[in-house]
Amino acid sequence: MSTRKGLILAGGTGSRLWPITQGLSKQLMPIYDKPMIYYPLSVLMLSGIREIAIITTPQDQAQFQNLLGDGTQWGVQITWLVQPSPDGLAQAYLIAEDFLAGDPSALILGDNIFFGHGLPELLASADRLSEGGTVFGYQVADPERYGVVGMNADGQVTQIVEKPEVPPSQLAITGLYFLDGTAPERARQVKPSPRGELEIADLLQSYLAEGNLSVERMGRGYAWLDTGTHASLLDAANFVRTLQSRQGMQTGCPEEIAFAAGWINAGQLKVQAARYAKTEYGTYLLGLL
Ligand code: DAU
Repeated sequence: MSTRKGLILAGGTGSRLWPITQGLSKQLMPIYDKPMIYYPLSVLMLSGIREIAIITTPQDQAQFQNLLGDGTQWGVQITWLVQPSPDGLAQAYLIAEDFLAGDPSALILGDNIFFGHGLPELLASADRLSEGGTVFGYQVADPERYGVVGMNADGQVTQIVEKPEVPPSQLAITGLYFLDGTAPERARQVKPSPRGELEIADLLQSYLAEGNLSVERMGRGYAWLDTGTHASLLDAANFVRTLQSRQGMQTGCPEEIAFAAGWINAGQLKVQAARYAKTEYGTYLLGLL
């Protein structure tokens, strides 16, 4: 089991998806048959992480708690934290400093969806690194919308720039960050950017400057899905639907991961299946027994 702790950042205003996210947190919206947050939560669980803090806005926290509770149903322990205003991704480490208590962490953005055959191995190798950090580079057609990797002629990563007008490469940094226990103290050194946010790119730069950041490529065999626009949200839902109906297997199913890891037993899985008895999800859970 990993000693790494998990963080899910699930705040923000969702303003790019208004009006649908005016009354509901973005990360609670459906991606086909499950709430969005199930997918990043599943990624942390796949990494072997059982202590997870979820950071929400103050006004949305109760709804997230109704959905996820304390995590016992999946054999994990959920701690609830709030971010009063969306002051940047790096702020997650300041908010979670006491929770982390010096331990290494994996931070995932609550709107990032990953799928890939080799994901468990990729996560396991990032987890093994107890010093420094690991982030994941994914080739995209529109890098200017993301944090982007800059490289020198030898292909060595020299910088990570946030939403550059002229992207130095097509390699975007995904919203999944494996950092060591020094992340909170480094986050304290980060100054607000011109847009007023504590930028994750600046925090990563501090690791990079010391030669302590590894950028792992997520290649062709992976899907990293965007949920930033109405169209990409629909595409993500269709992707999940296509995959699940073709294979008859779920993606982003916390019960399945917990059961396979031995974190919940057959009896606990049955309780979950009974709860969802009227749905295909419930039938699927029963089928795992
Ligand atoms: O998805 C990967 C990208 O995520 C990275 O490539 C970028 O480097 C990184 O900055 C981030 O870019 P976004 O444009 O997606 O960031 P955004 O401000 O939309 O925030 C991402 C999610 O985090 C979103 O669901 C809202 C939430 N959030 C954001 C901020 C700034 C918070 O919960 N708190 C915050 O303070």
